[in-house]
Amino acid sequence: MDYHSIFPTADLKALRLVLEKKQAWVGQSKKGFLRYRLPFESVHHIRAGHCDFNSDAVTIGRKEEVDPAEHSRILEVMRGFMPWRKGPFRLFDIDIDAEWRSELKWNRILPVLPDLTDRIVGDIGCNNGYYMFRMVPHRPKFVLGLEPYVQHYYTFKTLNSFAGRENLRVELLGIEHLPLFPDCFDVLFCLGILYHRQSPIDSLRDLWTALKPGGTVIIESQAIPGHEPIALFPEKTYAKVPGTWFVPTASCLHNWLSRCGFSSVRQFCMHPMSNREQRKTEWMVFESYDDFIDAADPERTIEGYPAPWRVFFKATKE
Ligand SMILES: C[S@@+](CC[C@H](N)C(=O)[O-])C[C@H]1O[C@@H](n2cnc3c(N)ncnc32)[C@H](O)[C@@H]1O
Repeated sequence: MDYHSIFPTADLKALRLVLEKKQAWVGQSKKGFLRYRLPFESVHHIRAGHCDFNSDAVTIGRKEEVDPAEHSRILEVMRGFMPWRKGPFRLFDIDIDAEWRSELKWNRILPVLPDLTDRIVGDIGCNNGYYMFRMVPHRPKFVLGLEPYVQHYYTFKTLNSFAGRENLRVELLGIEHLPLFPDCFDVLFCLGILYHRQSPIDSLRDLWTALKPGGTVIIESQAIPGHEPIALFPEKTYAKVPGTWFVPTASCLHNWLSRCGFSSVRQFCMHPMSNREQRKTEWMVFESYDDFIDAADPERTIEGYPAPWRVFFKATKE
């Protein structure tokens, strides 16, 4: 699919320049990119027969569809894409238990999922594309994932070279590139991104700009409990993460959305985080939720801040 027909109102000239630069950058043989590109190239001739995107584990291929040597190679390539943050996946009967049980987040969104049929959808910070695959049964016309990290980009490319879904694509772009897409998307997902932004208000405005009139955004953010419309601004790290800037209460995020121009702003879920949803696994062997929380007081982060909740909003652009 070409971007002229999908995004007729986009700044296609500027977009092409950005994408060409990104491709030249990622095409370099240095910077460790080969570590992801070569494994991708070594398996990208393999096509899966059976796919199931309706189950908790995104399922692509069965073991008997490939020969034993190819199966070993797929396992090796998948181990090379560690750490797996988002999942679960089942690839040619290889179970990939990622750090995050992303199906729990998807199941919270499902009851309010906008109609995706024939829609143009964006998934901002899509990581390895777990949610993009879960969107497939809802028959979107096209889903563009924006993901600036090369490891996640090649993980998605590898998964989708097996799955062969031509209406899913990831570009090495970030939320800051949304101004290139004015009035372009029917539905935007912005999950787990806002608290990583130094200017969440600018990001919300960019989301608003990129939506078509009548379009819908689904926002999910880390949050602190409380009724006041305030945001925590950590001194250095929050739950050990240095790249966390503003952690709002639900009412604060509600106000941000309203004041950035969104209508029908509706909170549809809020829940505390837990080690049931985010944990160390065989496919993500580094620190995880339990290491970020004060062992003596599970309602506090290791830094003494309120432990994280997650909050979900749906809002529209009139
Ligand atoms: C906390 S994860 C959330 C992933 C997924 N959306 C989810 O909710 O499970 C943040 C993701 O945003 C990506 N990211 C980093 N910088 C970004 C940017 N400038 N714009 C969009 N995404 C970005 C990261 O690589 C990572 O995949």
